[in-house]
Amino acid sequence: MEIKLKHFKKHCDSRGQLVAIEDENDLGFPIKRVYYIYGASNEVRRGFHAHKELQQYLICMSGECKILLDDGHEKEVVLLNDPSVGLYIGPSMWREMFDFTPGAVLVVLASMHYSEMDYIRDYNEFIKYCTEANEGSQ
Ligand code: TYD
Repeated sequence: MEIKLKHFKKHCDSRGQLVAIEDENDLGFPIKRVYYIYGASNEVRRGFHAHKELQQYLICMSGECKILLDDGHEKEVVLLNDPSVGLYIGPSMWREMFDFTPGAVLVVLASMHYSEMDYIRDYNEFIKYCTEANEGSQ
């Protein structure tokens, strides 16, 4: 599986670091929604869903957390611990977020407004969706 990590340009000087993100220019899609997860305890595991259309960049702004990615064939775990790095997650990718350190803040830049219709929350349904998409493309 190809893990798409984007290293945003850092403007560093003696005062610290600054990162600027412009939607189409840096992400390739318009940002329609921003949400963030904080105060998640270390035992917490979140996500457990895929999306049909949504594109997202996940950035761990503070602390660290891990993201399990599952494309229906392979699974990979990505550690996010750098506020200048964004993890791209496109459609048809099951994700779980876990191992949040105390004070971790996970920010998500999303290409669409919230729509429950775009979610696949059942893992068996996700596998079926991937198989059908694969058959359709052959
Ligand atoms: P949920 O989908 O369970 O979060 P996770 O990504 O960790 O699985 O979302 C938690 C609650 O927040 C749920 O009631 C739906 C709501 N929510 C919104 O209203 N807007 C959003 O953009 C998101 C991501 C969630």
